[in-house]
Amino acid sequence: MIILACDHAGYKLKEQVKDFFSKENITTIDVGTYSLDSVDYPDYAKLGNEKVLENVNNIGIYFCGTGIGMSIAANRNPKIRAALCMSNKYAELARRHNDANVLVLPGRFMSRVKAIAIIKTFLTTKFDGERHQRRVKKLSK
Ligand code: RB5
Repeated sequence: MIILACDHAGYKLKEQVKDFFSKENITTIDVGTYSLDSVDYPDYAKLGNEKVLENVNNIGIYFCGTGIGMSIAANRNPKIRAALCMSNKYAELARRHNDANVLVLPGRFMSRVKAIAIIKTFLTTKFDGERHQRRVKKLSK
């Protein structure tokens, strides 16, 4: 399942991404926020993390203005590997090397088209395992 979370600065891009998934008949869980009213990104990172960790196959996509706050907040949970990705290559490597389970995108600095391209890469790239498995395991200790 895909879990969406955002603050007010990520709301617009989150809605565009949600529409994209809806048109593709892909179900998402949206933990909010649900408007442009100002909120605090740590609250939504926490809500998103709780849902992501319900199933090992879940993937989170979080949005804030820069993507930085959501990344910092999400990564406070040792089982979350959140990656702020500004390019397809970053999305590919976040999956292949870091087994990232949350993709973070910057609502104020990224177009819908670029976000969707990055999301497609993130969702279709598998973890390489091997030496990376050892490193990733150390992250949640
Ligand atoms: C909200 O104004 C903004 O600070 C937040 O969305 C995010 O960019 C923080 O890192």
